[in-house]
Amino acid sequence: MSFTSVPSNTTRINRSQLFVPGSKPDLFEKASASNADIICLDLEDAVAPQDKEKAKENVINALNNHDFGKKTISVRINGLDTHYCYRDVVDLMENSGERLDLMMIPKVGVPEDVYAIDMLVTQIEDKTQRQKKIGFELIVETSMGITNLDKILTGSKRIESLHFGYADYAASVRMRTTNIGGSNQDYSILTDEIEGERNIHWNDMWHYPISKMTTIGRAHGVRIIDGPFGDFSDPEGFKSHARRTAILGCEGKWAIHPSQVDLANEVFTLPEKEVQKARDILEAMKKAQESGAGAATLNGKLIDAASIRQAEQIIEQTKLIETLSK
Ligand code: COA
Ligand code: MG
Repeated sequence: MSFTSVPSNTTRINRSQLFVPGSKPDLFEKASASNADIICLDLEDAVAPQDKEKAKENVINALNNHDFGKKTISVRINGLDTHYCYRDVVDLMENSGERLDLMMIPKVGVPEDVYAIDMLVTQIEDKTQRQKKIGFELIVETSMGITNLDKILTGSKRIESLHFGYADYAASVRMRTTNIGGSNQDYSILTDEIEGERNIHWNDMWHYPISKMTTIGRAHGVRIIDGPFGDFSDPEGFKSHARRTAILGCEGKWAIHPSQVDLANEVFTLPEKEVQKARDILEAMKKAQESGAGAATLNGKLIDAASIRQAEQIIEQTKLIETLSK
Protein backbone atom coordinates (compact mmCIF):
# COMPACT_ATOMS: atom_id res chain seq x y z
CA MET A 1 0.00 0.00 0.00
CA SER A 2 1.34 3.46 -0.83
CA PHE A 3 2.05 5.84 2.05
CA THR A 4 -0.55 8.08 0.41
CA SER A 5 -4.04 6.96 1.22
CA VAL A 6 -7.17 8.06 -0.61
CA PRO A 7 -10.18 8.79 1.55
CA SER A 8 -13.20 7.36 -0.20
CA ASN A 9 -15.98 9.76 -1.06
CA THR A 10 -18.91 7.51 -0.26
CA THR A 11 -21.28 9.56 1.81
CA ARG A 12 -24.14 9.09 -0.65
CA ILE A 13 -25.79 6.12 -2.21
CA ASN A 14 -26.02 6.40 -5.95
CA ARG A 15 -27.35 3.02 -7.10
CA SER A 16 -29.97 4.58 -9.34
CA GLN A 17 -30.04 8.10 -10.75
CA LEU A 18 -33.30 8.96 -12.47
CA PHE A 19 -33.20 11.62 -15.17
CA VAL A 20 -36.15 13.89 -15.70
CA PRO A 21 -36.16 16.59 -18.38
CA GLY A 22 -36.60 20.03 -16.78
CA SER A 23 -39.10 20.77 -19.53
CA LYS A 24 -41.46 18.06 -18.22
CA PRO A 25 -42.46 19.20 -14.72
CA ASP A 26 -45.40 16.78 -14.78
CA LEU A 27 -42.88 13.98 -14.31
CA PHE A 28 -41.31 15.43 -11.14
CA GLU A 29 -43.97 13.88 -8.92
CA LYS A 30 -43.49 10.44 -10.43
CA ALA A 31 -39.73 10.75 -9.99
CA SER A 32 -40.15 11.73 -6.32
CA ALA A 33 -42.38 8.72 -5.73
CA SER A 34 -39.83 6.36 -7.32
CA ASN A 35 -37.14 4.45 -5.42
CA ALA A 36 -34.35 6.40 -7.12
CA ASP A 37 -31.42 7.30 -4.85
CA ILE A 38 -30.76 10.47 -6.85
CA ILE A 39 -33.01 12.49 -9.13
CA CYS A 40 -31.29 14.48 -11.85
CA LEU A 41 -33.33 17.33 -13.28
CA ASP A 42 -31.96 17.90 -16.75
CA LEU A 43 -31.37 21.23 -18.46
CA GLU A 44 -29.02 19.82 -21.10
CA ASP A 45 -29.62 17.34 -23.89
CA ALA A 46 -33.15 16.21 -22.99
CA VAL A 47 -34.32 19.82 -23.36
CA ALA A 48 -34.77 21.45 -26.77
CA PRO A 49 -33.16 24.90 -27.27
CA GLN A 50 -36.52 26.68 -27.36
CA ASP A 51 -37.44 25.14 -23.97
CA LYS A 52 -34.20 25.91 -22.13
CA GLU A 53 -35.44 29.02 -20.28
CA LYS A 54 -38.75 27.47 -19.30
CA ALA A 55 -37.05 24.26 -18.16
CA LYS A 56 -34.76 26.23 -15.87
CA GLU A 57 -37.73 28.10 -14.47
CA ASN A 58 -39.51 24.77 -13.80
CA VAL A 59 -36.46 23.35 -12.07
CA ILE A 60 -35.95 26.41 -9.85
CA ASN A 61 -39.63 26.40 -9.01
CA ALA A 62 -39.51 22.71 -8.08
CA LEU A 63 -36.38 23.16 -5.97
CA ASN A 64 -38.24 25.77 -3.96
CA ASN A 65 -41.70 24.25 -3.80
CA HIS A 66 -41.74 20.56 -4.66
CA ASP A 67 -41.36 17.93 -1.95
CA PHE A 68 -38.59 15.59 -3.13
CA GLY A 69 -38.46 13.92 0.27
CA LYS A 70 -35.03 12.78 1.39
CA LYS A 71 -33.73 12.20 -2.11
CA THR A 72 -30.47 13.66 -3.30
CA ILE A 73 -31.23 16.22 -5.99
CA SER A 74 -28.93 17.04 -8.86
CA VAL A 75 -29.34 19.39 -11.82
CA ARG A 76 -27.51 18.77 -15.08
CA ILE A 77 -26.45 22.14 -16.44
CA ASN A 78 -25.61 22.89 -20.08
CA GLY A 79 -22.02 22.40 -21.24
CA LEU A 80 -19.30 25.02 -21.12
CA ASP A 81 -19.36 25.27 -24.90
CA THR A 82 -22.83 26.83 -24.80
CA HIS A 83 -23.99 30.27 -23.72
CA TYR A 84 -26.62 28.63 -21.49
CA CYS A 85 -23.97 27.39 -19.09
CA TYR A 86 -23.05 30.48 -17.08
CA ARG A 87 -26.69 31.53 -16.65
CA ASP A 88 -27.63 28.01 -15.54
CA VAL A 89 -25.06 28.20 -12.77
CA VAL A 90 -25.90 31.74 -11.70
CA ASP A 91 -29.69 31.34 -11.83
CA LEU A 92 -29.67 28.01 -10.03
CA MET A 93 -27.27 29.06 -7.34
CA GLU A 94 -28.97 32.39 -6.70
CA ASN A 95 -32.52 31.10 -6.72
CA SER A 96 -32.70 27.48 -5.63
CA GLY A 97 -32.29 27.85 -1.87
CA GLU A 98 -30.68 24.98 0.01
CA ARG A 99 -32.48 22.07 -1.68
CA LEU A 100 -29.99 21.52 -4.49
CA ASP A 101 -27.32 18.95 -3.56
CA LEU A 102 -25.34 18.35 -6.73
CA MET A 103 -24.56 20.02 -10.00
CA MET A 104 -23.81 17.76 -12.94
CA ILE A 105 -21.35 19.14 -15.49
CA PRO A 106 -21.51 17.49 -18.93
CA LYS A 107 -18.75 16.97 -21.50
CA VAL A 108 -15.90 17.86 -19.19
CA GLY A 109 -12.64 17.84 -21.17
CA VAL A 110 -9.99 19.63 -19.11
CA PRO A 111 -9.62 20.45 -15.39
CA GLU A 112 -10.25 24.13 -16.12
CA ASP A 113 -13.83 23.27 -17.13
CA VAL A 114 -14.47 22.18 -13.56
CA TYR A 115 -12.41 24.98 -12.06
CA ALA A 116 -14.43 27.60 -13.93
CA ILE A 117 -17.74 26.27 -12.59
CA ASP A 118 -16.26 25.97 -9.10
CA MET A 119 -15.23 29.62 -9.21
CA LEU A 120 -18.79 30.74 -10.01
CA VAL A 121 -20.39 28.37 -7.50
CA THR A 122 -17.99 29.38 -4.72
CA GLN A 123 -18.60 33.08 -5.26
CA ILE A 124 -22.36 32.65 -5.23
CA GLU A 125 -22.30 30.34 -2.21
CA ASP A 126 -20.38 33.06 -0.42
CA LYS A 127 -22.68 35.87 -1.57
CA THR A 128 -25.89 33.99 -0.71
CA GLN A 129 -24.41 32.52 2.49
CA ARG A 130 -25.46 29.07 1.44
CA GLN A 131 -25.02 26.56 4.25
CA LYS A 132 -24.76 23.40 2.17
CA LYS A 133 -21.82 23.10 -0.20
CA ILE A 134 -22.76 21.97 -3.71
CA GLY A 135 -21.03 18.80 -4.92
CA PHE A 136 -20.08 18.18 -8.55
CA GLU A 137 -20.90 15.22 -10.74
CA LEU A 138 -18.83 15.11 -13.92
CA ILE A 139 -19.88 13.40 -17.10
CA VAL A 140 -16.97 11.90 -18.98
CA GLU A 141 -18.21 11.52 -22.53
CA THR A 142 -15.59 12.71 -24.94
CA SER A 143 -12.21 11.59 -26.11
CA MET A 144 -10.71 14.57 -24.24
CA GLY A 145 -12.55 13.65 -21.07
CA ILE A 146 -11.21 10.11 -21.06
CA THR A 147 -7.70 11.23 -22.07
CA ASN A 148 -7.43 13.91 -19.36
CA LEU A 149 -9.26 12.06 -16.61
CA ASP A 150 -6.49 12.12 -14.01
CA LYS A 151 -5.93 15.88 -14.42
CA ILE A 152 -9.65 16.65 -14.59
CA LEU A 153 -10.13 15.15 -11.15
CA THR A 154 -7.77 17.77 -9.70
CA GLY A 155 -10.02 20.56 -11.05
CA SER A 156 -12.11 20.99 -7.89
CA LYS A 157 -12.50 19.59 -4.41
CA ARG A 158 -16.26 19.48 -5.00
CA ILE A 159 -16.08 16.49 -7.36
CA GLU A 160 -18.09 13.61 -5.92
CA SER A 161 -18.63 11.33 -8.88
CA LEU A 162 -17.79 10.47 -12.47
CA HIS A 163 -20.49 9.38 -14.90
CA PHE A 164 -20.08 7.76 -18.30
CA GLY A 165 -22.00 9.27 -21.20
CA TYR A 166 -22.37 6.57 -23.85
CA ALA A 167 -23.85 8.40 -26.82
CA ASP A 168 -21.61 11.45 -26.69
CA TYR A 169 -18.53 9.30 -26.12
CA ALA A 170 -19.39 7.09 -29.10
CA ALA A 171 -19.87 10.17 -31.28
CA SER A 172 -16.67 11.77 -30.00
CA VAL A 173 -14.43 8.81 -30.79
CA ARG A 174 -16.43 7.92 -33.91
CA MET A 175 -17.55 4.51 -32.77
CA ARG A 176 -19.76 2.98 -35.44
CA THR A 177 -22.85 2.51 -33.32
CA THR A 178 -26.03 4.40 -32.66
CA ASN A 179 -27.04 2.56 -29.50
CA ILE A 180 -27.07 4.42 -26.19
CA GLY A 181 -25.14 1.81 -24.23
CA GLY A 182 -25.84 -1.82 -24.98
CA SER A 183 -24.04 -4.18 -27.30
CA ASN A 184 -23.17 -4.44 -30.96
CA GLN A 185 -22.85 -7.66 -32.91
CA ASP A 186 -20.01 -6.22 -34.95
CA TYR A 187 -17.89 -5.93 -31.84
CA SER A 188 -17.33 -9.65 -31.62
CA ILE A 189 -14.84 -12.38 -32.30
CA LEU A 190 -15.44 -15.21 -34.74
CA THR A 191 -13.58 -18.13 -33.27
CA ASP A 192 -11.39 -20.48 -35.29
CA GLU A 193 -13.00 -23.73 -36.25
CA ILE A 194 -13.02 -26.29 -33.44
CA GLU A 195 -14.47 -29.69 -34.31
CA GLY A 196 -16.26 -28.23 -37.33
CA GLU A 197 -17.81 -25.33 -35.40
CA ARG A 198 -17.13 -21.63 -35.29
CA ASN A 199 -18.69 -19.42 -32.62
CA ILE A 200 -19.35 -15.72 -32.28
CA HIS A 201 -18.40 -14.17 -28.95
CA TRP A 202 -19.89 -10.76 -28.38
CA ASN A 203 -17.55 -8.39 -26.54
CA ASP A 204 -18.05 -5.36 -24.36
CA MET A 205 -17.12 -2.36 -26.49
CA TRP A 206 -17.40 -0.04 -23.46
CA HIS A 207 -14.87 -1.90 -21.36
CA TYR A 208 -11.95 0.47 -21.91
CA PRO A 209 -13.52 3.80 -20.89
CA ILE A 210 -15.44 2.31 -17.94
CA SER A 211 -12.38 0.49 -16.71
CA LYS A 212 -10.26 3.60 -17.09
CA MET A 213 -12.83 5.60 -15.12
CA THR A 214 -12.98 3.14 -12.24
CA THR A 215 -9.20 2.86 -12.03
CA ILE A 216 -8.39 6.57 -12.22
CA GLY A 217 -11.51 7.78 -10.44
CA ARG A 218 -10.87 5.64 -7.39
CA ALA A 219 -7.37 7.11 -7.10
CA HIS A 220 -9.20 10.37 -6.40
CA GLY A 221 -11.79 8.83 -4.09
CA VAL A 222 -14.84 9.58 -6.25
CA ARG A 223 -17.87 7.40 -7.03
CA ILE A 224 -18.04 5.88 -10.50
CA ILE A 225 -21.50 5.76 -12.00
CA ASP A 226 -22.53 4.00 -15.17
CA GLY A 227 -24.54 6.09 -17.65
CA PRO A 228 -27.73 5.44 -19.62
CA PHE A 229 -29.09 2.33 -21.31
CA GLY A 230 -31.37 3.70 -23.99
CA ASP A 231 -33.57 0.68 -24.68
CA PHE A 232 -35.94 1.02 -21.74
CA SER A 233 -38.09 -1.83 -23.03
CA ASP A 234 -35.21 -4.30 -22.47
CA PRO A 235 -34.89 -4.91 -18.71
CA GLU A 236 -32.71 -8.01 -19.17
CA GLY A 237 -30.31 -6.05 -21.39
CA PHE A 238 -30.19 -3.27 -18.78
CA LYS A 239 -29.41 -5.69 -15.96
CA SER A 240 -26.81 -7.62 -17.89
CA HIS A 241 -25.04 -4.39 -18.76
CA ALA A 242 -25.29 -3.04 -15.19
CA ARG A 243 -23.88 -6.27 -13.79
CA ARG A 244 -20.81 -5.91 -16.01
CA THR A 245 -20.13 -2.35 -14.91
CA ALA A 246 -20.79 -3.28 -11.26
CA ILE A 247 -18.11 -5.96 -11.56
CA LEU A 248 -15.71 -3.35 -12.94
CA GLY A 249 -16.29 -1.03 -9.96
CA CYS A 250 -19.32 1.16 -10.75
CA GLU A 251 -21.61 1.94 -7.80
CA GLY A 252 -24.75 2.72 -9.72
CA LYS A 253 -26.36 3.50 -13.05
CA TRP A 254 -28.58 6.10 -14.64
CA ALA A 255 -32.22 5.40 -15.25
CA ILE A 256 -33.80 7.24 -18.15
CA HIS A 257 -37.20 5.74 -17.42
CA PRO A 258 -38.82 4.91 -14.06
CA SER A 259 -38.88 1.21 -14.99
CA GLN A 260 -35.08 1.15 -14.82
CA VAL A 261 -34.85 2.46 -11.22
CA ASP A 262 -35.64 -0.79 -9.43
CA LEU A 263 -33.45 -2.72 -11.87
CA ALA A 264 -30.48 -0.50 -10.98
CA ASN A 265 -31.21 -0.72 -7.25
CA GLU A 266 -31.37 -4.49 -7.54
CA VAL A 267 -28.06 -4.85 -9.37
CA PHE A 268 -26.16 -2.30 -7.28
CA THR A 269 -27.31 -3.65 -3.93
CA LEU A 270 -24.92 -6.49 -3.25
CA PRO A 271 -26.70 -9.85 -3.17
CA GLU A 272 -26.90 -11.44 0.29
CA LYS A 273 -24.90 -14.42 -1.04
CA GLU A 274 -21.92 -12.18 -1.84
CA VAL A 275 -22.20 -10.31 1.44
CA GLN A 276 -22.25 -13.61 3.35
CA LYS A 277 -19.20 -14.76 1.42
CA ALA A 278 -17.41 -11.55 2.45
CA ARG A 279 -18.37 -12.18 6.11
CA ASP A 280 -17.05 -15.76 5.82
CA ILE A 281 -13.75 -14.47 4.44
CA LEU A 282 -13.35 -12.02 7.33
CA GLU A 283 -14.18 -14.73 9.84
CA ALA A 284 -11.75 -17.23 8.28
CA MET A 285 -8.98 -14.63 8.11
CA LYS A 286 -9.57 -13.66 11.73
CA LYS A 287 -9.06 -17.28 12.76
CA ALA A 288 -6.01 -17.59 10.48
CA GLN A 289 -4.42 -14.49 11.97
CA GLU A 290 -5.14 -15.63 15.52
CA SER A 291 -3.23 -18.80 14.77
CA GLY A 292 -0.38 -16.77 13.27
CA ALA A 293 -1.08 -17.55 9.60
CA GLY A 294 -1.11 -14.85 6.90
CA ALA A 295 -2.98 -16.89 4.33
CA ALA A 296 -5.74 -19.44 4.70
CA THR A 297 -8.07 -21.66 2.73
CA LEU A 298 -11.79 -21.12 2.41
CA ASN A 299 -13.81 -23.66 0.45
CA GLY A 300 -10.65 -24.87 -1.26
CA LYS A 301 -9.54 -21.38 -2.32
CA LEU A 302 -6.67 -19.18 -1.18
CA ILE A 303 -7.53 -16.12 0.88
CA ASP A 304 -5.07 -13.63 2.35
CA ALA A 305 -4.79 -10.04 3.55
CA ALA A 306 -5.96 -8.71 0.15
CA SER A 307 -9.10 -10.83 0.53
CA ILE A 308 -9.80 -8.92 3.76
CA ARG A 309 -9.68 -5.64 1.82
CA GLN A 310 -11.99 -7.03 -0.88
CA ALA A 311 -14.43 -8.33 1.71
CA GLU A 312 -14.33 -5.15 3.80
CA GLN A 313 -15.31 -2.92 0.91
CA ILE A 314 -18.30 -5.18 0.19
CA ILE A 315 -19.41 -5.00 3.83
CA GLU A 316 -18.84 -1.23 3.98
CA GLN A 317 -20.88 -0.53 0.84
CA THR A 318 -23.67 -2.80 2.07
CA LYS A 319 -23.81 -0.99 5.42
CA LEU A 320 -23.93 2.36 3.65
CA ILE A 321 -26.85 1.19 1.50
CA GLU A 322 -28.67 -0.23 4.52
CA THR A 323 -28.26 3.01 6.45
CA LEU A 324 -28.99 5.51 3.69
CA SER A 325 -31.76 3.76 1.76
CA LYS A 326 -34.12 3.78 4.75
N1 COA B 1 -39.25 10.46 -14.85
C1 COA B 1 -40.44 10.32 -14.24
N2 COA B 1 -41.52 9.78 -14.85
C2 COA B 1 -41.36 9.34 -16.12
C3 COA B 1 -40.15 9.45 -16.79
C4 COA B 1 -39.05 10.02 -16.10
N3 COA B 1 -37.87 10.15 -16.69
N4 COA B 1 -40.28 8.91 -18.01
C5 COA B 1 -41.54 8.50 -18.13
N5 COA B 1 -42.22 8.76 -16.99
C6 COA B 1 -43.61 8.43 -16.70
C7 COA B 1 -44.56 8.80 -17.82
O1 COA B 1 -45.02 10.12 -17.66
C8 COA B 1 -45.66 7.78 -17.66
O2 COA B 1 -46.46 8.21 -16.58
P1 COA B 1 -48.04 7.84 -16.55
O3 COA B 1 -48.12 6.34 -16.52
O4 COA B 1 -48.52 8.47 -15.28
O5 COA B 1 -48.62 8.44 -17.80
C9 COA B 1 -44.92 6.54 -17.20
O6 COA B 1 -43.70 7.02 -16.59
C10 COA B 1 -44.57 5.60 -18.32
O7 COA B 1 -43.88 6.30 -19.32
P2 COA B 1 -43.84 5.82 -20.84
O8 COA B 1 -45.14 6.10 -21.52
O9 COA B 1 -43.37 4.41 -20.85
O10 COA B 1 -42.69 6.68 -21.44
P3 COA B 1 -42.83 8.05 -22.25
O11 COA B 1 -43.06 7.71 -23.68
O12 COA B 1 -43.79 8.96 -21.57
O13 COA B 1 -41.36 8.69 -22.10
C11 COA B 1 -39.05 9.02 -22.50
C12 COA B 1 -40.22 8.04 -22.60
C13 COA B 1 -37.76 8.28 -22.83
C14 COA B 1 -39.24 10.19 -23.46
C15 COA B 1 -39.00 9.53 -21.02
O14 COA B 1 -38.87 8.41 -20.20
C16 COA B 1 -37.93 10.54 -20.72
O15 COA B 1 -38.06 11.71 -21.01
N6 COA B 1 -36.83 10.08 -20.07
C17 COA B 1 -35.74 10.94 -19.63
C18 COA B 1 -34.82 11.29 -20.75
C19 COA B 1 -33.66 12.09 -20.25
O16 COA B 1 -33.73 12.82 -19.28
N7 COA B 1 -32.51 11.96 -20.92
C20 COA B 1 -31.32 12.62 -20.49
C21 COA B 1 -30.34 11.69 -19.91
S1 COA B 1 -29.80 10.46 -21.04
MG1 MG C 1 -24.22 13.52 -23.14
